[in-house]
Amino acid sequence: MTLKTFFGTCALGLTLALPALAETDPAVAQRKGQFQLYLHNFGVMGAMVQGRMDYDAALAQTAADNLFHITRHDQSRLWPEGTDSASIEGTRANPAIWDNLDDFVSKFVDLQNAAENLQSQAGNGLDALQPAFGATAGTCQACHEAYRDEAS
Ligand code: HEC
Repeated sequence: MTLKTFFGTCALGLTLALPALAETDPAVAQRKGQFQLYLHNFGVMGAMVQGRMDYDAALAQTAADNLFHITRHDQSRLWPEGTDSASIEGTRANPAIWDNLDDFVSKFVDLQNAAENLQSQAGNGLDALQPAFGATAGTCQACHEAYRDEAS
């Protein structure tokens, strides 16, 4: 393929993709992607805590480091007004988020603090990982109960 054909293909792809993007806000897929990365890292620690996998200090530490950093990702462009589940398809973000932004942000801060503690404990053995993991899971759950719709 020549360079010209390659760029030609890209330009065509972009033209075709634009109407689809206009129907929803790309921020929805992007914030979901962030949560999938939480799960990617949280899941491996969960498997160790629940005994589905042997404890591995290096793996637990890497996962906790990742979670720490991902929870620092700036949220300001991920939650635009009008991207709640009452306004658009394809999201479980409850409209209550935008009526209680201070509380929503404080629940994010709870997660950030728990992830910081988890990072300091994850590599110190299963007995250290367990309570720090549990405390972090509690912050995920608290926000989901308040602000995430049930899966349909
Ligand atoms: C401050 C609130 C908040 C916290 C804290 C939070 N979540 Fe969520 N989470 C949400 C909301 C809101 C959605 C729905 C997003 C959407 O559908 O647009 C969501 C969606 C998800 C999803 C589904 C993503 C998808 O592809 O549809 C996963 C998985 C998830 N969260 C995992 C976690 C984990 C694991 C933690 C803790 C480590 C966590 N969340 C902490 C609010 C939160």
